[in-house]
Amino acid sequence: MRIQVGIITISDRAAKGEYEDTGGPALKEAVTGYRWDVLTEDVVPDDKQGIQRAIRGQVRKGCHVVLTTGGTGVALRDGTPEAAREIAVRELPGFGEAMRMESMKTTKNAILSRNLAVVVDQSLVICLPGKPAGAVECLGIVAEAVPHAVEILQGVPTSC
Ligand code: MTE
Repeated sequence: MRIQVGIITISDRAAKGEYEDTGGPALKEAVTGYRWDVLTEDVVPDDKQGIQRAIRGQVRKGCHVVLTTGGTGVALRDGTPEAAREIAVRELPGFGEAMRMESMKTTKNAILSRNLAVVVDQSLVICLPGKPAGAVECLGIVAEAVPHAVEILQGVPTSC
C-alpha cells in the first residue's frame, strides 16, 4: 500500500509568517525519499486546540501517518506532546525512546526533546523536534517501523 502522510509544522513564529517554515519542506523531501506520498501540509501555532484540530483534520483527510515538527522541548509554549497524547488512543513509547537514544549519540541536547508517537483513530502520529535537520534525523531513526505499524493500524494482512 502507498503510505499517505500529512505534515504539521508547529511554531508560533512560522504560523505568523515571521519565520520561513523550513521544517515542513525538509520533512517533505525526506518523506518523498521513503516513497511515501505527502497528502497535506499545515503550519499552526503552539496552541493545544489548534494542534489537535490540525492532527484530527489530517487524519480525517486520510493520512495514515501524521508527522509534526516543533514544540517538543522544554519551553513553556512547547505543548505538542500533551496535545497529541490527549487525543490519542495509545502511545508507542519505543519511538520516543529510540529517537532520544540515537540522537544523543550526536546531539546531547536531544535529551531535551519529548519526541513521541501515538495512535489517533487508525493513524500513526509521530512528533519530531523543530530543528529541520533534527526532525529528518529522528524520522530516519524510526522510518523502518512505519510501514508495518501502518499496515496493522489499517487492518492490512501482514506477514508477521
Ligand atoms: N534531536 C536531533 N536528532 N537533533 C537535534 O538537533 N535538537 C534538540 C532536541 N532534539 C535536536 C534533537 C533541541 S536543541 C531541542 S530544544 C529539542 O529537540 C526540542 O526541540 P523543539 O522544541 O523545537 O521541538
